[in-house]
Amino acid sequence: MHAKLGYVISTLVAIALLACPAGAFAVEEAKDILIADFEGQTYGDWKVEGDAFGAGPAKGTLQGQMTVRGYLGKALVNTYLGGDGATGTLTSPPLKIERKHINFLIGGGKHPGQTCINLLIGGKCVRTATGYNNSPGGSEALAWQSWDVTDLAGKMATIQIVDKRKGGWGHVNVDQIMQSDKKRQSAAPATPPPAVAASREITIDKRYLHLPVKNGAPGCRVKLVVDGETAREFTIELAEGEPDFWVFADMADFAGKKIRVEVDKMTEGAKGLEAITQADEVPGAAGMYKEKHRQQFHFSSRRGWNNDSNGLVYYKGEYHLYYQHNPYGWKWGNMHWGHAVSDDLVHWKELPIAIYPHRFGDWVFSGSAVVDADNTAGFKTGDEDVIVAAYTSTGRGEAIAYSNDRGRTFADYAGNPVVKHSGRDPKVIWYAPGKHWVMALFDQVGKSRGIALYTSTNLKDWQRTSRIDGYYECPEIFEIALDGKADTTKWVVYGADGKYAVGSFDGKTFAPDGDRQTFHYGNCFYASQTFSNIPADDGRRIQIAWGRIDTPGMPFNQCMLFPVELTLRTTSDGPRMFTMPVREIEKLRGKKHEWKDCSLTFSGRNPLAAIDAELMDISAEIDISASQEKEVGFFVRGTPVSYDVAKQTLTCKGKTAPLKCPGGKLSLRILVDRTSIEIYANDGEVYMPIGVIHPEENRSLEPMNIAKATRLTVWELRSAWE
Ligand code: FRU
Repeated sequence: MHAKLGYVISTLVAIALLACPAGAFAVEEAKDILIADFEGQTYGDWKVEGDAFGAGPAKGTLQGQMTVRGYLGKALVNTYLGGDGATGTLTSPPLKIERKHINFLIGGGKHPGQTCINLLIGGKCVRTATGYNNSPGGSEALAWQSWDVTDLAGKMATIQIVDKRKGGWGHVNVDQIMQSDKKRQSAAPATPPPAVAASREITIDKRYLHLPVKNGAPGCRVKLVVDGETAREFTIELAEGEPDFWVFADMADFAGKKIRVEVDKMTEGAKGLEAITQADEVPGAAGMYKEKHRQQFHFSSRRGWNNDSNGLVYYKGEYHLYYQHNPYGWKWGNMHWGHAVSDDLVHWKELPIAIYPHRFGDWVFSGSAVVDADNTAGFKTGDEDVIVAAYTSTGRGEAIAYSNDRGRTFADYAGNPVVKHSGRDPKVIWYAPGKHWVMALFDQVGKSRGIALYTSTNLKDWQRTSRIDGYYECPEIFEIALDGKADTTKWVVYGADGKYAVGSFDGKTFAPDGDRQTFHYGNCFYASQTFSNIPADDGRRIQIAWGRIDTPGMPFNQCMLFPVELTLRTTSDGPRMFTMPVREIEKLRGKKHEWKDCSLTFSGRNPLAAIDAELMDISAEIDISASQEKEVGFFVRGTPVSYDVAKQTLTCKGKTAPLKCPGGKLSLRILVDRTSIEIYANDGEVYMPIGVIHPEENRSLEPMNIAKATRLTVWELRSAWE
């Protein structure tokens, strides 16, 4: 391990010059010995056991953790990895005690024997220390502690960092372990200044609180205190002056109550705090969904940020789309489960937030939902079947919550967490042959990433059954008919990037048939999920992915990709997933333009000049054998979507997919929305979702060297928000 940037401790420390009659002589202290500064990519020759330490030192604060302060350089040992549940030890190679003190920086839980650093001699613990636990906030800070080891001089020892704590808050942060003749001891880190720097009381007489946001303003922490209890707590870039946009907090639960709004970084009477108002409508209700970069037939949240689709489930005529949501800012953060419903996958209605964080810092990360028709968990209280959501609680582990009101509100299960491991993103499915539930979890042990599979008969008690190596985040597993034949099914497994394996599954273990295949070739696809509980007479496997598309200048950010139907089809290379948009897009079709058996060459005038549309559904069959040109395709509102006949590749915005066109036939289906172009080539063999902000003034479709089109149909689409 190398020394920290700019941190070279006392080489020749304290050269004391003592004047005495006999003359001057120098007393030289020995140099400090660096035992570990944890700045490398790995732990080097330290031995890692368990899953609390990850593949190498943490680069500061970890996902879901409060800010870690007081470490040196860029990295440290931080066993918050994967939340508080992970355990393990990190042991140094043997070292000789050569100085009077061993100094180190430590923070985290004050749990002797459980979250600690130990000095071992002959396997026996001779010194130990813990962090400070002085929450809130200060608990993550590191400060110097020191062991006097004068009596152990010359002995061989090892240092061991331990996190054995399973239940409740507690992990350990360690950095910069040194041998030194000088003791370094600092006071326990101070609890940060009191959280309340300003506050205001409001009696709730309207549905929503409106809060002003300025992107880039210092993030402050806001607490809404009701009846002496913190009802909501989040960070927000609260605008002191002119806001970029307004967000809202739903006050339905607190009607008539007096609430106190506490802000940690403002002065009493500060503008941002005073500007908070109440209203019965959400901010900007009149112009909602009409914003310049608002997707018109893709879901995006009214305000704030969205990422992964979560809890996709169909129940009694409604498709539920829950999603990773920051209600209070343009960027990722404050993770909640937002919620929208649709009866046709095209028209969405955003409903109140479905799952709020348990407490600040314990965020609601991704997961799934099922209908527990047989009431296996015993949560049923009324006439409706129970919808059970499984999500990652970043402070507790894998958690479940249940809804007896058609997915509107959820109660957290009192026995949470139901699974503790290092990872996240539970996807639950019912395995009918074994009459049990299966949970697929992203699982990370050291450097090894994969999907862990668990089973349960009641959604509460889970047994780990197997692990599939090599997948990252948001696992998915489902059964699917091969070539539409219900009696020949296969199982498909993928992670957040969609790279999938086809194989078989016996309810406990997945056995892949072959290599993993690419699912999409786009620039914005991530963290998809498929619906559970689709009625048998429909039988489709419907997927919605997060569309990683930035929408600068908007009061919202990101969107979902258009729902697609997945099918598994036999090809000459083996079974492959095909992806096509769900047929419900037809509901938005307006003006239709059609050309048949024609040449669409561009000779001075665009042959498709009749099209003047922002939103389009394009379906083309092109005879590429008729083309003399190298590239064939379209300019979609100026963006080329082109097929290279010689190379047999499809390209859009720098993304390229291999695509063969047997018989010289290229089929292209293209959906165009305000910030996207979704391409489905050769009946879904290639799926290429592209994020692009179209030039506003360009509403054209132009052919690119189409010498012969067997058919071209272009529908102008209506907005789903109309
Ligand atoms: C994937 C992901 C998930 C996590 C969530 C947090 O995009 O990182 O693994 O649960 O987002 O928002």
